[in-house]
Amino acid sequence: MKREHVLSCNFSVWYPKFKNITIRSRVIPLSKEFVDYLKADNVVLPGQPVVTRDSDEEIESDSEEWQALDEDPNEHTITTPEFNEIDSAIKEAIIELDGTVFPKLNWSSPLDASWISCDGTLKCKCPNDIYLLLKSSDNICRTLFETFKHCEDGEGALENGFELVLRKWKDINPGMEFRCFVKDHKLIAISQRDIASCYEFIEQTEQDICSDIANFFKGKIAYKFPDSSYTFDVYRSAGQKVLLIDFNPFGAQTDPLFFTWDELSDPSMSVSDNDDEFKGVFKYVTSAGGVQPNASHLSRMPTDIVDLACGNDINKLVDLLNLRNLIGRSGDESDEDQ
Ligand SMILES: Nc1ncnc2c1ncn2[C@@H]1O[C@H](COP(=O)(O)OP(=O)(O)OP(=O)(O)O)[C@@H](O)[C@H]1O
Ligand SMILES: [Mg+2]
Repeated sequence: MKREHVLSCNFSVWYPKFKNITIRSRVIPLSKEFVDYLKADNVVLPGQPVVTRDSDEEIESDSEEWQALDEDPNEHTITTPEFNEIDSAIKEAIIELDGTVFPKLNWSSPLDASWISCDGTLKCKCPNDIYLLLKSSDNICRTLFETFKHCEDGEGALENGFELVLRKWKDINPGMEFRCFVKDHKLIAISQRDIASCYEFIEQTEQDICSDIANFFKGKIAYKFPDSSYTFDVYRSAGQKVLLIDFNPFGAQTDPLFFTWDELSDPSMSVSDNDDEFKGVFKYVTSAGGVQPNASHLSRMPTDIVDLACGNDINKLVDLLNLRNLIGRSGDESDEDQ
């Protein structure tokens, strides 16, 4: 995989050519100051105070003077800048996109941070919803610092040209999403996108799914995308209409889902030139099994903490309070022992 292949999948590069077959979106260029704000190692919303600590030169903080003030001389409060221009551009775009949006940067979305939002999704209604997701996401961090990580002609990050992409929110049934793999301009493989669930209708409508996607590829994607090998994600809705969601490079940067990159790159994985029907490999979870763990769940909070925070499980709260009482009591006892 080369840098040019990653660049072809930059949203604002492919969107103009494919906008009739994908979700309506707006692109907002990001200033260097905003990118620096995203790169900074803290989760603070613009315009909010943040406490920073001197790390190299420690000032003695337990002197009587500081204790009297109840302040730590190593700490300073600074206010993060506000980004009025980006704020206004976001508000305008949200209105144009009918009130709710899905945010991402040039290549990736903060899917791994969805747990932090009120409803556990990436549905955003205002700039702060978007900033919180972007600042909390490892996916976004990787885009900012390791844009070309897997490229054989140079790793590293994009220097200029980061963009915020806002897409009109669409309620998507994850069972109807598929990742499609194209090698040498041919559709060689399709994978169910949500590898963590079994959707029985996929097994029942396998032939239709493959032929709808193959026709969509032939008519709308093949030879229109600049590279010969790449992946594209689609949503096949209930009316059998196929919608383009995203492009990704053909290589390690992209999750091959039910395949491996060795398998997909192997010369045996190919289809002949004059196939009208899909003759590649379609992998999905059958009712007999095959569910895989969902990688994005690995970055979530421990369920015990979520349950406590949301009051989902009252028994866990009671256990915690009992534990605190026990610790308190044994602390009192050991105090008495001394
Ligand atoms: N406009 C939208 N509204 C609601 N959900 C969306 C929207 N666009 C995408 N999604 C959901 O978010 C998922 C990820 O979207 P997308 O592929 O754009 O992000 P990504 O970070 O590039 O993911 P990947 O790294 O796997 O390519 C999609 O599979 C879909 O379920
Ligand atoms: Mg993508």
